[in-house]
Amino acid sequence: MTINERYNDKVVRQFAVMTLVWGIVGMAVGLLIAAQLYWPALNFDLPWLTYSRLRPLHTNAVIFAFGGCALFATSLYCVQRTSHARLISDRLASFVFWGWQLVIVLAAISLPMGWTQGKEYAELEWPIDWLITVVWVAYAVLFFGTIVKRRVEHIYVANWFFGAYIITIAVLHIVNNLALPVTLTKSYGVYTGAVDAMVQWWYGHNAVGFFLTAGFLGMMYYFVPKQVGRPIYSYRLSIVHFWALIAIYMWAGPHHLQYTALPDWAQSLGMVFSLVLLAPSWGGAINGIMTLAGVWHKLRTDPIIKFLIVSLSFYMMSTFEGPIMSIKTVNSLSHYTDWTIGHVHSGALGWVAMISLGSMYMLYPRLLGLKEMYSTRLIDTHFWVHTIGVVFYIASMWVAGINQGLMWRATNADGTLTYSFVESLVATYPYYLVRFLGGLLVVGGMLIMAWNVFKTFQMARSEVEEPEVLDPAVAHA
Ligand code: HEM
Ligand code: HEM
Repeated sequence: MTINERYNDKVVRQFAVMTLVWGIVGMAVGLLIAAQLYWPALNFDLPWLTYSRLRPLHTNAVIFAFGGCALFATSLYCVQRTSHARLISDRLASFVFWGWQLVIVLAAISLPMGWTQGKEYAELEWPIDWLITVVWVAYAVLFFGTIVKRRVEHIYVANWFFGAYIITIAVLHIVNNLALPVTLTKSYGVYTGAVDAMVQWWYGHNAVGFFLTAGFLGMMYYFVPKQVGRPIYSYRLSIVHFWALIAIYMWAGPHHLQYTALPDWAQSLGMVFSLVLLAPSWGGAINGIMTLAGVWHKLRTDPIIKFLIVSLSFYMMSTFEGPIMSIKTVNSLSHYTDWTIGHVHSGALGWVAMISLGSMYMLYPRLLGLKEMYSTRLIDTHFWVHTIGVVFYIASMWVAGINQGLMWRATNADGTLTYSFVESLVATYPYYLVRFLGGLLVVGGMLIMAWNVFKTFQMARSEVEEPEVLDPAVAHA
């Protein structure tokens, strides 16, 4: 293994490995809850295996453990390379790594125990929230400190996106989690009623916008040009993309609260900003995809580029669908249905997971001083298994969701409901099996990746252990 004195790659390697580990764990829990929706007996009548407890475990594990570790790894790699500077402190880097792992372990214990604030994506109780705050501030110091001591004047656009995500998540986390503790495992939020709902979805939507989007766009701006071997298609567009995205995302949160007690004007505002959001989202994605202009043939041969570019196609798909779903009349059909779940996973499994997996495949060999992964064919297999799995998942949820919406609103001539709720569940049932199969493929793909990564690490070790051959004649003997 090469020890890079110039940069701190140890922390990047640690986060990169844990991305894979938490990816497998988080997706396996997703698979389990998908199975529970089809075979409810799979909770085995154990409180800590009930759907209600495992669902937040899944969302926290995939977003903050899998996605989080991928973001830590790539941002800390990118900031050093583009600043021509080592991280400001190895100790702080190590603290960020171990601190974040501790947060994840505490989440994995507390959520199945049922200790929760009851706020989606902000379930963790106050002691863990405090720990997150401390680790996040350390991360911010590490990242921005490295930017400050950079040896090049310019701050590359990927760092703008990473920087925005770090600052915004800090603000969102602190404001949404303000609470009065009553015991070690129980607290009450300071907000009430409609204000509580608005603050929660201001948080929730911007967690999507800045954690699941801006951070991963930072990844795109660094890893797509790197892997393609060409500069980003338009640097000017990337600046417009940045400011437009940052300015618009903040106002779209109310689209999660259409037809609620929120003032009507706020709901409409959320809808309008969501519609406008299509433009910067697509502008950014096109900027990434067009980086391949002139070398499209690489898409045929390089499975890492396939991961990266197809992730952008899913990004375009989900950022087209999102604005449509925010339109009040559409939302009256889609809300509460599995359509939302389909939308979420076209973003999560298509965009977030694929850009992360592509970037990880690029990072592992580089971090180990190798030219490439153990097997390019296995990367290709993973790509296809994953893509087919995602299509199974999202297509089944779209059909199920629209079916549900239409069944729930259908009325007879006398005004009574045409279908009972149970009838809509029965109609949804087969789609849950298709979703489960899609999830099985995705998890299968992750296991293929694990094998490939394991063999790559083994390869790196054996290269180091091979005795140095000084005399070619001896080598032949
Ligand atoms: C094998 C892969 C996966 C499977 C089988 C899976 C399965 C599920 C299931 C069954 C639910 C609950 C749906 C419901 O309540 O009706 C869910 C929710 C969710 N999953 Fe996944 N998931 C997977 C991967 C991911 C990934 C990689 C991410 C994020 C990066 C993610 C993010 C989410 C989110 C945010 C929700 C909550 C959605 C909402 O509340 O509207 N999932 N997932
Ligand atoms: C232009 C961009 C986007 C817009 C305007 C948008 C809009 C929406 C809308 C209208 C909903 C349904 C709200 C409801 O009825 O409850 C929704 C849900 C959701 N979206 Fe998006 N979306 C966008 C992009 C994305 C992306 C890229 C991701 C993931 C990476 C994502 C993740 C989610 C999640 C997790 C939810 C479920 C929230 C919950 O109820 O738990 N969205 N989005």
